[in-house]
Amino acid sequence: MSLRARPVIAIDGPAGAGKSTLASHLARRFGFLNLETGAMYRALALKALEHELGLDEEEPLLILAETTSIRLEPQSDGNQVLLDGVDVSTRLRHPDVTAAASRVSVHPRVRVWMVEQQRSLGESGGVVMEGRDIGTAVFPDAEVKIFLDADPEVRGDRRFQQNGTAQAAESASKEAVVREMRERDERDRNRAQSPLRPAHDAVVLDSTALTLEEVLAQAEEIVRSRME
Ligand code: DC
Repeated sequence: MSLRARPVIAIDGPAGAGKSTLASHLARRFGFLNLETGAMYRALALKALEHELGLDEEEPLLILAETTSIRLEPQSDGNQVLLDGVDVSTRLRHPDVTAAASRVSVHPRVRVWMVEQQRSLGESGGVVMEGRDIGTAVFPDAEVKIFLDADPEVRGDRRFQQNGTAQAAESASKEAVVREMRERDERDRNRAQSPLRPAHDAVVLDSTALTLEEVLAQAEEIVRSRME
């Protein structure tokens, strides 16, 4: 039994499934904080890139993490991310950081460090926490778990439409976005520690054939029924 006064809502799923939109909607609807854990992996990846660290070696990344402060400040349109006190929110969305975050996140001890931070952010509940392993590893006792999925083509399309500024900066083609997303999915699903998969008690919501309104309505219904 958890000792939290208010619930944790865990939203997991692959890139481009619509987790951020869903998480921020649910957070507003229920008056909870919205915490994007992917932004934390992105922030550490950015720092590693700035320090020109190899992304495949765990030890230096862990040492870097232990001297790093990552803060998520919930705003109306997502989280402002402060990396050692500096706002890096926009930079984190660039494709080089996206690819680096996926590589940084395979390291087991880096994940342990992240999970500790994420647990302390969510320990008093009243949060919608979004990521890949929230329902399986960060809060296995979350009161509500939703695994949001969609076909890869649909996710690639959505991601391409969303990417706007960051993508224009790198002039990435749609094919490149879809390819990069597939590579990231592969890594996220196949890593040894906390691979992306639905928790046994998660409700799987497939948004492939649903409108945004339908996804939001179904998710609200899931939350209400779980919290009753
Ligand atoms: O959700 P996102 O695209 O911002 O996540 C960036 C990367 O971080 C993604 O490739 C997988 C990783 N990640 C993770 O391993 N566990 C989480 N809870 C969140 C993100």
